[in-house]
Amino acid sequence: MSMREGAATQAKAPACVPVHVGVIMDGNGRWATARNLPRFEGHRRGVEALRRCVRAAREIGIRYLTIYSFSSENWSRPAQEISELMGLLKRFVRHDLAELHANNVRVRIIGERLSLAREISNLLEEAENLTKGNNGLTLVIAFNYGARQEIAAAAARIAAQVAAGELTPEDVTVERIGANLLTAGIPDPDLIVRTSGEQRLSNFLLWQAAYAEFVFLPIYWPEFDEAALLGAIEEFARRDRRFGGVTARAGSARS
Ligand code: FPP
Repeated sequence: MSMREGAATQAKAPACVPVHVGVIMDGNGRWATARNLPRFEGHRRGVEALRRCVRAAREIGIRYLTIYSFSSENWSRPAQEISELMGLLKRFVRHDLAELHANNVRVRIIGERLSLAREISNLLEEAENLTKGNNGLTLVIAFNYGARQEIAAAAARIAAQVAAGELTPEDVTVERIGANLLTAGIPDPDLIVRTSGEQRLSNFLLWQAAYAEFVFLPIYWPEFDEAALLGAIEEFARRDRRFGGVTARAGSARS
């Protein structure tokens, strides 16, 4: 990190920084339609918002940023839009990977990979392999991701071990289920932000979000910027997280 960047970080960093922020990037289509633009233009501007978000997360000192970029249910969109979203992902990885790597960002992908085109799954693997030694921000890209599918797959894997006699039903604990999810090794999200005013999880990190705080922003994703992220973190810092207990705790693991 340069001196200049260091100074900026100190000036911007809020008092209480969530370790892991999940982002549901919603409203690209509505942003475009409101401007008489094709939906694709909303997604294209959405990638620019994503770049701003990653940069801001690094500067603020967030350790994990999980972005919901293509859900298992997004396959029901028109073929042209699916192909455009795939194209944007390819361009994002090809164009931004070197810079992410140079900035010490580790890329991890969560989602079902087998049904993706070989070119896409190869690119995702390349991004993970190139950056696996980095220890700055971890950018988790949820692509072809669905939390129910993730939980069902974990249950099936554990059930197979029970059936094989390697585990007993008593071994099926919260920890074991967590360790069989695609997010194994990643702390649960402290804060989940969703843009566009919609207030739902839409099959995103259902298990992991058990104690997350939610902030719903009344802006469309292409409008997202550092100020919006800082505003969400300020709101998070005001929350009283009790994790089922009674004593008031600081809003984050790092305050
Ligand atoms: C929601 O907007 C957004 C998506 C379904 C995809 C998000 C994708 C990007 C920001 C760009 C591609 C991602 C990467 C990683 C390059 P919407 O289309 O559901 O908007 P609407 O609800 O207003 O129709």
